Amino acid sequence: MNQVIELLRSHRSIRKFTDEPVSSEQLEQILLAGQAASTSSFLQVTSVIRITDRAIREKLVECSGGQKWVAQAPEFLVWCADFKRHKTIAPEAMLGFSEQLLIGAVDTAIMAENALIAAESMGLGGLFVGGIRNQPQAVTDLLALPEHVIPLFGMCIGVPAQDPTLRPRLPLSLVLHENRYNADLDKETLAGYDQQVHDYYEQRLGANKVMTWSEQISAILSKEARPFMKAYLQKQGFDLK
Ligand SMILES: Cc1cc2nc3c(=O)[nH]c(=O)nc-3n(C[C@H](O)[C@H](O)[C@H](O)COP(=O)(O)O)c2cc1C
Repeated sequence: MNQVIELLRSHRSIRKFTDEPVSSEQLEQILLAGQAASTSSFLQVTSVIRITDRAIREKLVECSGGQKWVAQAPEFLVWCADFKRHKTIAPEAMLGFSEQLLIGAVDTAIMAENALIAAESMGLGGLFVGGIRNQPQAVTDLLALPEHVIPLFGMCIGVPAQDPTLRPRLPLSLVLHENRYNADLDKETLAGYDQQVHDYYEQRLGANKVMTWSEQISAILSKEARPFMKAYLQKQGFDLK
């Protein structure tokens, strides 16, 4: 394993940070590394909003369902898909296509992941916070996001004050298909993974909330998923044509 792969495979989300600040040089390197990521058609559809105002941080804690690390992390960045810049440069731009929503989400996630890896390579840690999409309109108002800009997720960055164990991923054999989709889920392999996740939670949480991966995804997916999102996206000019 080379050092890059070792770094990638040691990723775990960090939700507790020391008070040590992230230096402006570190932050710049993190963001430049993010910008080096591939970008669909060279469109560069991402804007990042660095939140330094304490009051805004506290409001973002509320918007994300009380996630206190949003206020506690030395740095908190809000990652946005942004076609406003393009509309300003090219007023004739035809916007609002579903494809552009995909481009915005895919490219911003790629850039953000590059940035998180860069942070991790410096001994920092971090966390994606999709929870800010619980209240997309409140976040939009708070950050003065214009039409054609949507907040996709936040990101905490700082020096880790915890050392969580790695969260086991699905066996590769369940993820990798060859030439065509294999719809025959290997139940034995899945049962082994469910046990692994169960053991992981048991070790991490003790007797509380221990569940298998199958139980977890079933609990998540048997609820509505932010059903207000379509109307919000349309209001922001992502009309989903
Ligand atoms: C787009 C995205 C949004 C996420 N949002 C949250 C969040 O709001 N709160 C949280 O605690 N973790 C959040 N996470 C972190 C995931 O829960 C975490 O990555 C996953 O459980 C795997 O754990 P690991 O990153 O420690 O390996 C998010 C991850 C991604 C990729």
